[in-house]
Amino acid sequence: MIDATISEFSGWLAATSLSHTIQTTGWVIPTLQTIHILSVAVVFSSAVLVDLRLWRLLNRDVPLPEITRRFLPAIWPVLLVLLITGGLLIIGEPRRSLLNSTFYLKMALLAVAIVLTAWLQWTLSSSPNFWDKNRGRRMAGQLAATLSIMVWCGILFAGRWIAYTQAG
Ligand code: HEM
Repeated sequence: MIDATISEFSGWLAATSLSHTIQTTGWVIPTLQTIHILSVAVVFSSAVLVDLRLWRLLNRDVPLPEITRRFLPAIWPVLLVLLITGGLLIIGEPRRSLLNSTFYLKMALLAVAIVLTAWLQWTLSSSPNFWDKNRGRRMAGQLAATLSIMVWCGILFAGRWIAYTQAG
């Protein structure tokens, strides 16, 4: 029932003039893909640099709040670019993503990554030594950093996997 509705919606979307333009103008899809993947590099590296600092594997001499201030704010506008380019890629070929469970896995992981990243940023802006108060907090920070790295890697894998798991 839900599949049939999504399939119908995908058919309607593919028949719109915007989708037609994306499908038939040769440079549009490669350009969107290029912007998408460059934005992925910014978001992924910013998040993982903060995670590695939480693990004390990188920039140990720079205070954690300073690292967070340097890297995390960049994530939010670039996520918007990912949303726009990803949205246009979907409009160009709706069935490829909308009828693909890997795409929904990617979106679910993205929701977890957004909550985790916003939480890390919030804890450090409201209490700069939040993750350094005691041994328990340090371990909790490392756990959150590990989860964050795993979730961002999961998004990367799922993003690339969409191409190989699309409906026929
Ligand atoms: C914000 C919402 C996002 C949407 C709507 C979106 C949507 C898409 C779509 C439609 C594709 C093309 C898949 C295909 O047809 O093969 C794609 C590719 C991809 N996405 Fe996203 N995406 C988003 C965010 C992200 C984020 C945050 C990451 C990782 C940090 C990411 C990583 C990737 C990767 C690695 C690819 C494969 C690129 C390629 O092989 O050309 N995406 N995305």
